[in-house]
Amino acid sequence: MKSLVKLDNIQERISEALNHRKNNNRYRQLTILDTLIDFRSNDYLGLTKSAWIKQKLTEYNVINLGASGSRLLSGNSVIHEQTEDFLAEFYQSEAALLYNSGFDANVGLLSTLIRPEDIVFYDEAIHASMHQGLKLSGAQKISFKHNDVNDLEHKIQHSSLDNISWMICESYYSMNGDKAPLEQYIQLCKKYNIQIIVDEAHAVGCFGENGRGLCNETKTNKDIFARVVTFGKAIGAHGAAVLCSQMTKEYLINFSKNFIYTTALPPIDIYHIQLAHHFLIKYSHAAKQLHQHIHYFKQRTIGIKNLKGDGPIFSLIVPGEQNVKLLAQKFQNYGMAIQAIISPTIPKGEEQLRIILHSHNTTNEIQLLIDTLKKENETA
Ligand SMILES: Cc1ncc(COP(=O)(O)O)c(C=O)c1O
Repeated sequence: MKSLVKLDNIQERISEALNHRKNNNRYRQLTILDTLIDFRSNDYLGLTKSAWIKQKLTEYNVINLGASGSRLLSGNSVIHEQTEDFLAEFYQSEAALLYNSGFDANVGLLSTLIRPEDIVFYDEAIHASMHQGLKLSGAQKISFKHNDVNDLEHKIQHSSLDNISWMICESYYSMNGDKAPLEQYIQLCKKYNIQIIVDEAHAVGCFGENGRGLCNETKTNKDIFARVVTFGKAIGAHGAAVLCSQMTKEYLINFSKNFIYTTALPPIDIYHIQLAHHFLIKYSHAAKQLHQHIHYFKQRTIGIKNLKGDGPIFSLIVPGEQNVKLLAQKFQNYGMAIQAIISPTIPKGEEQLRIILHSHNTTNEIQLLIDTLKKENETA
Protein backbone atom coordinates (compact mmCIF):
# COMPACT_ATOMS: atom_id res chain seq x y z
CA MET A 1 0.00 0.00 0.00
CA LYS A 2 2.80 2.33 1.05
CA SER A 3 4.69 1.78 -2.23
CA LEU A 4 1.55 2.57 -4.28
CA VAL A 5 1.27 5.93 -2.54
CA LYS A 6 4.93 6.61 -3.37
CA LEU A 7 4.40 5.77 -7.04
CA ASP A 8 1.45 8.17 -7.17
CA ASN A 9 3.69 10.87 -5.69
CA ILE A 10 6.36 10.29 -8.30
CA GLN A 11 3.87 10.45 -11.14
CA GLU A 12 2.34 13.60 -9.71
CA ARG A 13 5.79 15.18 -9.46
CA ILE A 14 6.66 14.30 -13.06
CA SER A 15 3.34 15.53 -14.40
CA GLU A 16 3.60 18.76 -12.37
CA ALA A 17 7.05 19.49 -13.82
CA LEU A 18 5.81 18.84 -17.36
CA ASN A 19 2.72 20.98 -16.88
CA HIS A 20 4.87 23.77 -15.47
CA ARG A 21 6.99 23.66 -18.62
CA LYS A 22 3.90 23.67 -20.85
CA ASN A 23 2.32 26.57 -18.98
CA ASN A 24 5.54 28.59 -19.34
CA ASN A 25 5.88 27.82 -23.05
CA ARG A 26 9.13 26.02 -22.31
CA TYR A 27 8.03 22.50 -23.15
CA ARG A 28 10.65 20.74 -25.29
CA GLN A 29 9.70 18.33 -28.03
CA LEU A 30 11.69 16.27 -30.49
CA THR A 31 11.27 17.38 -34.09
CA ILE A 32 12.44 16.16 -37.50
CA LEU A 33 12.85 18.99 -40.00
CA ASP A 34 15.24 17.33 -42.43
CA THR A 35 13.18 18.15 -45.53
CA LEU A 36 13.60 21.89 -44.82
CA ILE A 37 16.60 24.09 -45.68
CA ASP A 38 19.20 23.50 -42.99
CA PHE A 39 19.81 26.63 -40.94
CA ARG A 40 19.91 24.83 -37.61
CA SER A 41 22.36 21.93 -37.58
CA ASN A 42 25.95 22.07 -36.31
CA ASP A 43 27.10 20.39 -39.52
CA TYR A 44 28.87 23.61 -40.56
CA LEU A 45 30.92 22.03 -43.34
CA GLY A 46 28.45 19.39 -44.48
CA LEU A 47 30.83 16.62 -43.42
CA THR A 48 27.98 14.36 -42.22
CA LYS A 49 27.22 13.88 -45.93
CA SER A 50 30.77 13.93 -47.33
CA ALA A 51 31.08 11.46 -50.22
CA TRP A 52 34.88 11.32 -49.70
CA ILE A 53 34.54 10.33 -46.04
CA LYS A 54 31.74 7.83 -46.79
CA GLN A 55 33.88 6.16 -49.46
CA LYS A 56 36.94 5.99 -47.21
CA LEU A 57 34.85 4.50 -44.41
CA THR A 58 33.77 1.63 -46.67
CA GLU A 59 37.47 0.81 -47.20
CA TYR A 60 38.00 0.36 -43.46
CA ASN A 61 38.61 -3.22 -42.48
CA VAL A 62 36.05 -3.65 -39.71
CA ILE A 63 37.18 -6.40 -37.37
CA ASN A 64 35.21 -5.44 -34.26
CA LEU A 65 31.89 -3.61 -34.55
CA GLY A 66 31.94 -2.54 -30.92
CA ALA A 67 34.81 -1.56 -28.63
CA SER A 68 33.92 -4.45 -26.24
CA GLY A 69 34.95 -2.61 -23.09
CA SER A 70 36.28 0.58 -21.56
CA ARG A 71 39.67 1.91 -22.69
CA LEU A 72 41.32 0.57 -19.54
CA LEU A 73 39.90 -2.91 -20.22
CA SER A 74 39.43 -4.45 -23.69
CA GLY A 75 38.24 -1.25 -25.42
CA ASN A 76 41.67 0.13 -26.25
CA SER A 77 43.12 -0.46 -29.72
CA VAL A 78 45.84 0.68 -32.09
CA ILE A 79 43.39 3.02 -33.87
CA HIS A 80 42.42 4.70 -30.57
CA GLU A 81 46.07 5.36 -29.70
CA GLN A 82 47.07 6.37 -33.24
CA THR A 83 44.15 8.80 -33.40
CA GLU A 84 45.10 10.41 -30.11
CA ASP A 85 48.65 10.96 -31.37
CA PHE A 86 47.28 12.30 -34.64
CA LEU A 87 44.87 14.69 -32.87
CA ALA A 88 47.62 15.95 -30.56
CA GLU A 89 49.73 16.77 -33.60
CA PHE A 90 46.84 18.29 -35.58
CA TYR A 91 45.77 20.58 -32.73
CA GLN A 92 49.38 21.26 -31.65
CA SER A 93 49.08 19.86 -28.17
CA GLU A 94 51.47 17.67 -26.16
CA ALA A 95 48.77 15.00 -25.79
CA ALA A 96 45.12 14.22 -26.53
CA LEU A 97 42.66 11.96 -24.70
CA LEU A 98 39.50 10.75 -26.40
CA TYR A 99 36.12 10.96 -24.66
CA ASN A 100 32.81 9.59 -25.93
CA SER A 101 31.24 13.03 -26.33
CA GLY A 102 31.89 16.70 -25.66
CA PHE A 103 29.51 16.55 -22.72
CA ASP A 104 31.53 13.68 -21.25
CA ALA A 105 34.84 15.46 -21.91
CA ASN A 106 33.76 18.64 -20.12
CA VAL A 107 32.27 16.82 -17.16
CA GLY A 108 35.19 14.38 -16.98
CA LEU A 109 37.85 17.06 -17.23
CA LEU A 110 36.41 19.71 -14.92
CA SER A 111 35.13 17.38 -12.21
CA THR A 112 38.51 15.61 -12.00
CA LEU A 113 41.00 18.41 -12.47
CA ILE A 114 39.32 21.02 -10.30
CA ARG A 115 39.17 20.31 -6.58
CA PRO A 116 36.74 21.57 -3.90
CA GLU A 117 39.38 23.94 -2.46
CA ASP A 118 39.92 25.67 -5.86
CA ILE A 119 38.31 28.84 -7.21
CA VAL A 120 36.79 28.94 -10.69
CA PHE A 121 35.96 32.07 -12.67
CA TYR A 122 33.64 31.24 -15.54
CA ASP A 123 31.93 33.12 -18.36
CA GLU A 124 28.20 33.26 -17.63
CA ALA A 125 27.47 31.86 -21.13
CA ILE A 126 29.39 28.56 -20.87
CA HIS A 127 27.73 25.32 -21.96
CA ALA A 128 25.61 23.16 -19.64
CA SER A 129 28.25 20.40 -19.69
CA MET A 130 30.85 22.74 -18.19
CA HIS A 131 28.36 23.78 -15.50
CA GLN A 132 27.80 20.11 -14.72
CA GLY A 133 31.54 19.45 -14.44
CA LEU A 134 32.01 22.49 -12.20
CA LYS A 135 29.13 21.44 -9.99
CA LEU A 136 30.68 17.99 -9.49
CA SER A 137 34.10 19.54 -8.75
CA GLY A 138 32.66 21.18 -5.62
CA ALA A 139 34.87 24.24 -6.19
CA GLN A 140 33.92 27.82 -5.37
CA LYS A 141 32.38 29.24 -8.57
CA ILE A 142 32.40 32.91 -9.57
CA SER A 143 30.74 33.94 -12.83
CA PHE A 144 31.73 36.98 -14.87
CA LYS A 145 29.76 38.84 -17.55
CA HIS A 146 29.91 37.27 -20.98
CA ASN A 147 33.22 38.09 -22.75
CA ASP A 148 33.84 40.94 -20.28
CA VAL A 149 37.54 41.07 -19.35
CA ASN A 150 37.01 44.04 -17.01
CA ASP A 151 34.32 42.24 -15.06
CA LEU A 152 36.60 39.19 -14.84
CA GLU A 153 39.42 41.32 -13.41
CA HIS A 154 37.00 42.96 -10.99
CA LYS A 155 35.84 39.52 -9.76
CA ILE A 156 39.45 38.33 -9.47
CA GLN A 157 40.43 41.37 -7.41
CA HIS A 158 37.55 40.76 -5.01
CA SER A 159 38.39 37.13 -4.29
CA SER A 160 41.10 35.35 -2.37
CA LEU A 161 43.68 33.92 -4.75
CA ASP A 162 45.47 31.80 -2.15
CA ASN A 163 43.90 28.74 -3.71
CA ILE A 164 44.53 27.27 -7.15
CA SER A 165 42.39 29.28 -9.57
CA TRP A 166 40.92 28.54 -12.98
CA MET A 167 39.20 30.50 -15.74
CA ILE A 168 36.73 28.65 -17.94
CA CYS A 169 35.31 29.83 -21.27
CA GLU A 170 34.38 28.79 -24.79
CA SER A 171 36.39 30.12 -27.72
CA TYR A 172 33.34 30.55 -30.00
CA TYR A 173 29.94 30.68 -28.33
CA SER A 174 27.21 28.47 -29.70
CA MET A 175 24.38 30.70 -28.49
CA ASN A 176 25.72 34.21 -29.08
CA GLY A 177 27.87 33.44 -32.13
CA ASP A 178 30.73 35.55 -30.78
CA LYS A 179 34.41 34.89 -30.08
CA ALA A 180 36.11 35.05 -26.68
CA PRO A 181 38.87 37.68 -26.19
CA LEU A 182 41.46 34.92 -25.77
CA GLU A 183 44.60 37.09 -25.95
CA GLN A 184 43.26 39.42 -23.26
CA TYR A 185 42.31 36.48 -21.06
CA ILE A 186 45.84 35.09 -21.36
CA GLN A 187 47.38 38.43 -20.34
CA LEU A 188 45.06 38.82 -17.37
CA CYS A 189 45.30 35.24 -16.16
CA LYS A 190 49.10 35.31 -16.37
CA LYS A 191 49.09 38.40 -14.16
CA TYR A 192 47.07 36.60 -11.45
CA ASN A 193 48.47 33.10 -12.02
CA ILE A 194 45.15 31.63 -13.12
CA GLN A 195 44.97 28.53 -15.34
CA ILE A 196 42.71 28.57 -18.39
CA ILE A 197 40.44 25.86 -19.82
CA VAL A 198 38.75 26.49 -23.18
CA ASP A 199 35.91 24.62 -24.88
CA GLU A 200 36.43 24.79 -28.67
CA ALA A 201 33.33 22.76 -29.61
CA HIS A 202 32.00 25.22 -32.19
CA ALA A 203 35.35 26.65 -33.33
CA VAL A 204 36.85 23.40 -34.58
CA GLY A 205 36.57 23.04 -38.36
CA CYS A 206 35.37 26.65 -38.77
CA PHE A 207 38.32 28.75 -37.59
CA GLY A 208 42.10 28.51 -37.75
CA GLU A 209 44.32 26.90 -40.38
CA ASN A 210 42.56 23.71 -41.62
CA GLY A 211 39.96 24.20 -38.87
CA ARG A 212 42.40 23.84 -35.97
CA GLY A 213 40.28 26.22 -33.89
CA LEU A 214 40.52 29.70 -32.43
CA CYS A 215 43.22 28.93 -29.85
CA ASN A 216 45.48 27.96 -32.74
CA GLU A 217 44.41 30.93 -34.85
CA THR A 218 45.19 33.35 -32.01
CA LYS A 219 48.35 31.39 -31.06
CA THR A 220 47.12 31.18 -27.47
CA ASN A 221 47.12 27.39 -27.25
CA LYS A 222 50.53 27.19 -25.55
CA ASP A 223 49.20 29.30 -22.67
CA ILE A 224 46.04 27.27 -22.15
CA PHE A 225 46.06 24.47 -19.59
CA ALA A 226 43.52 22.30 -21.42
CA ARG A 227 41.24 22.55 -24.45
CA VAL A 228 38.17 20.50 -25.30
CA VAL A 229 37.53 19.77 -28.98
CA THR A 230 34.37 17.96 -30.04
CA PHE A 231 33.67 15.93 -33.15
CA GLY A 232 29.87 15.94 -33.40
CA LYS A 233 29.68 19.40 -34.93
CA ALA A 234 31.83 20.61 -37.87
CA ILE A 235 33.74 17.31 -37.86
CA GLY A 236 30.45 15.52 -38.63
CA ALA A 237 31.20 12.48 -36.48
CA HIS A 238 30.87 11.91 -32.72
CA GLY A 239 33.12 12.04 -29.65
CA ALA A 240 35.60 14.56 -28.28
CA ALA A 241 39.13 14.96 -27.00
CA VAL A 242 40.82 16.80 -24.18
CA LEU A 243 44.05 18.45 -25.38
CA CYS A 244 46.52 18.76 -22.55
CA SER A 245 49.96 17.79 -21.27
CA GLN A 246 51.02 14.14 -21.16
CA MET A 247 50.91 14.23 -17.34
CA THR A 248 47.36 15.64 -17.29
CA LYS A 249 46.35 12.92 -19.75
CA GLU A 250 47.75 10.26 -17.42
CA TYR A 251 45.95 11.90 -14.49
CA LEU A 252 42.63 11.79 -16.38
CA ILE A 253 43.17 8.14 -17.36
CA ASN A 254 43.65 7.38 -13.67
CA PHE A 255 40.96 9.53 -12.08
CA SER A 256 38.33 10.73 -14.60
CA LYS A 257 35.20 8.63 -14.05
CA ASN A 258 33.70 9.69 -17.41
CA PHE A 259 36.75 8.19 -19.07
CA ILE A 260 37.25 5.11 -16.88
CA TYR A 261 33.75 3.76 -16.41
CA THR A 262 32.32 3.76 -19.92
CA THR A 263 32.63 1.62 -23.02
CA ALA A 264 35.06 3.16 -25.51
CA LEU A 265 33.84 4.46 -28.86
CA PRO A 266 33.97 1.69 -31.51
CA PRO A 267 37.09 1.61 -33.75
CA ILE A 268 35.06 2.64 -36.84
CA ASP A 269 33.93 5.82 -35.06
CA ILE A 270 37.51 6.62 -34.13
CA TYR A 271 38.61 6.02 -37.70
CA HIS A 272 35.79 8.33 -38.82
CA ILE A 273 37.13 11.09 -36.53
CA GLN A 274 40.59 10.68 -38.05
CA LEU A 275 39.28 10.67 -41.63
CA ALA A 276 37.26 13.85 -41.11
CA HIS A 277 40.42 15.60 -39.90
CA HIS A 278 42.30 14.31 -42.97
CA PHE A 279 39.50 15.83 -45.03
CA LEU A 280 40.18 19.20 -43.37
CA ILE A 281 43.88 18.94 -44.21
CA LYS A 282 43.29 17.79 -47.79
CA TYR A 283 40.33 19.97 -48.78
CA SER A 284 39.76 23.56 -47.78
CA HIS A 285 36.85 24.34 -50.14
CA ALA A 286 34.11 23.67 -47.58
CA ALA A 287 35.55 26.10 -45.00
CA LYS A 288 36.18 28.72 -47.73
CA GLN A 289 32.61 28.39 -48.97
CA LEU A 290 31.31 28.74 -45.41
CA HIS A 291 33.24 31.99 -44.88
CA GLN A 292 32.02 33.36 -48.23
CA HIS A 293 28.45 32.67 -47.12
CA ILE A 294 29.08 34.38 -43.78
CA HIS A 295 30.43 37.45 -45.59
CA TYR A 296 27.47 37.50 -48.04
CA PHE A 297 24.94 37.20 -45.18
CA LYS A 298 26.61 39.82 -43.00
CA GLN A 299 26.84 42.37 -45.81
CA ARG A 300 23.15 42.05 -46.60
CA THR A 301 21.76 42.01 -43.08
CA ILE A 302 23.41 45.19 -41.78
CA GLY A 303 20.73 47.19 -40.02
CA ILE A 304 18.52 44.27 -39.01
CA LYS A 305 17.67 45.02 -35.40
CA ASN A 306 18.87 42.57 -32.72
CA LEU A 307 20.76 40.35 -35.16
CA LYS A 308 24.32 39.53 -34.16
CA GLY A 309 27.00 37.00 -34.94
CA ASP A 310 30.66 36.72 -35.85
CA GLY A 311 30.97 33.40 -37.65
CA PRO A 312 28.53 30.73 -38.86
CA ILE A 313 26.18 31.28 -35.90
CA PHE A 314 23.86 34.29 -35.77
CA SER A 315 21.27 35.06 -33.14
CA LEU A 316 18.20 37.21 -33.48
CA ILE A 317 16.94 38.29 -30.08
CA VAL A 318 13.16 37.90 -29.85
CA PRO A 319 12.14 38.25 -26.19
CA GLY A 320 9.34 35.99 -24.98
CA GLU A 321 8.99 32.23 -25.39
CA GLN A 322 5.73 32.47 -27.33
CA ASN A 323 7.07 35.18 -29.70
CA VAL A 324 10.26 33.35 -30.58
CA LYS A 325 8.49 30.04 -31.09
CA LEU A 326 5.93 31.63 -33.41
CA LEU A 327 8.69 33.27 -35.43
CA ALA A 328 10.60 29.98 -35.74
CA GLN A 329 7.36 28.39 -36.96
CA LYS A 330 6.96 31.14 -39.59
CA PHE A 331 10.45 30.40 -40.95
CA GLN A 332 9.56 26.71 -41.01
CA ASN A 333 6.44 27.53 -43.01
CA TYR A 334 8.72 29.24 -45.55
CA GLY A 335 10.72 25.99 -45.76
CA MET A 336 13.64 26.87 -43.45
CA ALA A 337 14.66 24.91 -40.36
CA ILE A 338 15.60 27.50 -37.75
CA GLN A 339 15.70 26.87 -34.02
CA ALA A 340 14.06 28.93 -31.30
CA ILE A 341 16.28 28.97 -28.20
CA ILE A 342 14.51 29.49 -24.91
CA SER A 343 15.22 29.45 -21.18
CA PRO A 344 16.76 27.58 -19.37
CA THR A 345 19.25 27.11 -22.25
CA ILE A 346 19.65 30.91 -22.24
CA PRO A 347 18.50 33.47 -19.64
CA LYS A 348 14.82 34.42 -19.61
CA GLY A 349 14.16 37.58 -21.64
CA GLU A 350 17.00 36.78 -24.07
CA GLU A 351 15.02 34.28 -26.15
CA GLN A 352 16.43 34.06 -29.65
CA LEU A 353 16.29 32.51 -33.08
CA ARG A 354 19.55 30.74 -33.73
CA ILE A 355 20.51 30.87 -37.39
CA ILE A 356 23.36 28.67 -38.56
CA LEU A 357 25.01 28.99 -41.95
CA HIS A 358 26.69 26.03 -43.64
CA SER A 359 29.05 25.54 -46.55
CA HIS A 360 26.32 23.48 -48.25
CA ASN A 361 23.65 26.21 -48.15
CA THR A 362 23.15 27.72 -51.60
CA THR A 363 23.18 31.45 -52.32
CA ASN A 364 19.46 31.23 -53.18
CA GLU A 365 18.72 29.63 -49.81
CA ILE A 366 20.68 32.33 -48.00
CA GLN A 367 18.91 35.03 -50.00
CA LEU A 368 15.52 33.55 -49.00
CA LEU A 369 16.68 33.69 -45.38
CA ILE A 370 17.77 37.34 -45.73
CA ASP A 371 14.52 38.38 -47.47
CA THR A 372 12.43 36.68 -44.79
CA LEU A 373 14.45 38.23 -41.98
CA LYS A 374 13.99 41.67 -43.54
CA LYS A 375 10.28 41.15 -44.06
CA GLU A 376 9.78 39.98 -40.45
CA ASN A 377 11.97 42.80 -39.15
CA GLU A 378 9.79 45.40 -40.89
CA THR A 379 6.57 43.97 -39.47
CA ALA A 380 8.01 43.50 -35.93
C1 LIG B 1 30.01 24.51 -26.23
C2 LIG B 1 29.66 23.06 -26.20
N1 LIG B 1 30.45 22.22 -25.50
C3 LIG B 1 30.18 20.90 -25.43
C4 LIG B 1 29.07 20.36 -26.06
C5 LIG B 1 28.80 18.91 -25.96
O1 LIG B 1 29.33 18.25 -27.06
P1 LIG B 1 28.73 16.87 -27.56
O2 LIG B 1 27.54 17.19 -28.39
O3 LIG B 1 29.84 16.24 -28.31
O4 LIG B 1 28.35 16.11 -26.33
C6 LIG B 1 28.24 21.19 -26.82
C7 LIG B 1 27.06 20.62 -27.50
O5 LIG B 1 26.08 21.21 -27.79
C8 LIG B 1 28.53 22.58 -26.89
O6 LIG B 1 27.76 23.42 -27.58
